[in-house]
Amino acid sequence: MEPKTYTYLHLNENLDPEDYVICDYRVTTDMPMEKAADAIAAEQSTGTWTGLTTLKKGVIDKYGARVTEINGNNIRVAFPSEDFSVDIGGVPQILSVIAGNLFGLEALKKVRLEDVRFPKSILEQFPGPKHGAAGLRSVLKRKEKPLVGTIIKPKIGLSPKEMADYVYESGLGGLTNSKDDETLTNQVFCPIEDRTVAIAESLDRLEQEGIHMIHAINISTSGHKILEVADKVQSLGAKQIMVDVITCGFAAVQVLAEDPSVKVPVHVHRTMHGAMTRDRDHGIAMLPIAKLVRMCGGDALHIGTLGVGKMSGDVGGDMDNLRACTDESVPYKTVMPVCSGGVYPGMVGRLVERSGLTVQIQAGGAVAGHPGGVRKGAMAMSQAVEAAYNGIPADKYAETHEELKLALEKWGMK
Ligand code: 6PG
Ligand code: MG
Repeated sequence: MEPKTYTYLHLNENLDPEDYVICDYRVTTDMPMEKAADAIAAEQSTGTWTGLTTLKKGVIDKYGARVTEINGNNIRVAFPSEDFSVDIGGVPQILSVIAGNLFGLEALKKVRLEDVRFPKSILEQFPGPKHGAAGLRSVLKRKEKPLVGTIIKPKIGLSPKEMADYVYESGLGGLTNSKDDETLTNQVFCPIEDRTVAIAESLDRLEQEGIHMIHAINISTSGHKILEVADKVQSLGAKQIMVDVITCGFAAVQVLAEDPSVKVPVHVHRTMHGAMTRDRDHGIAMLPIAKLVRMCGGDALHIGTLGVGKMSGDVGGDMDNLRACTDESVPYKTVMPVCSGGVYPGMVGRLVERSGLTVQIQAGGAVAGHPGGVRKGAMAMSQAVEAAYNGIPADKYAETHEELKLALEKWGMK
């Protein structure tokens, strides 16, 4: 007779990681952890709240998720790779399996997806970055030093001309990158086409003066329009595009990486991620998001500020995100990790100590808020990066660099 219920517990079973997608969850529940883990594995694979007359044991053996470890609140669940249909289902289906209904199960107080590992057979079905960190470095002709950029501030309200002037000044101040902020798309005061053209002119002027710089135009929009907008801005001279992965979806990143019409690097912003990542016991950690962004083909990704900036995030978690971007054992180009959010020159030393040189450091307020204006703000940030690169403390470097000195006077050291 078929059992009414079936346990998905296979504790300490050694599975071939090439046959499974393996997920780590942190679970908060009043139930015994075995039961909670079993409920998750059942709900996310072949089971439901009751036994099923339609469920044959062979189906569970083949497609049932397996709980392979329980360690306090932490559980590991292995999903057979046959449970996934990446060719058509893509990331949406992957997320429905590994991060779907389980979040709403009444019996569990909280659940957090901490990490995911994919087998080669699934990784191979994703494109990974077209340009990656190395591609950005080669466009910018900057071999080794961290990239240093700005988010144009105020985030909304400037005209295309004002933004273009800001970019030009930033380039003269030594920045390698600039970008639209996440809430700027195509408002009446700053239409995307006019902005793209004006900024392209600034970048061309800089190029003629021997300065290599790129700016990411935010093309975040509805799925059915995103390629058209990408196309438009490229035809008007955009050198990089930006997409918000949580609000637009992973599929948006993937289409931009895969479609041959998109030639420029894709900068991936993560606005709204805090709704999922911030609670340490519930939601989805940034690490699985970072891994999926790399699979989908993001060339640069916001990873947090390694514990120094204004946005919540801890050093350990942000370092995991950084490693997800740069891990060489994954069969893709590496992603440029981007650190921004409340960054100012006096904290760059500590940031670089933690991140190493493969990073893009960005400051909005600390460039536009410098007492000497944008160019000097950019100079102060570049000087801070230069100091960190050379292992010189910022306050020492500031003795001979006026712009950095002014920045340290205003915001201090961290
Ligand atoms: C970004 C992000 C974010 C950040 C600011 C940076 O666009 O890079 O949204 O990481 O909060 O926009 O601005 P500040 O440097 O002024 O904090
Ligand atoms: Mg922003």
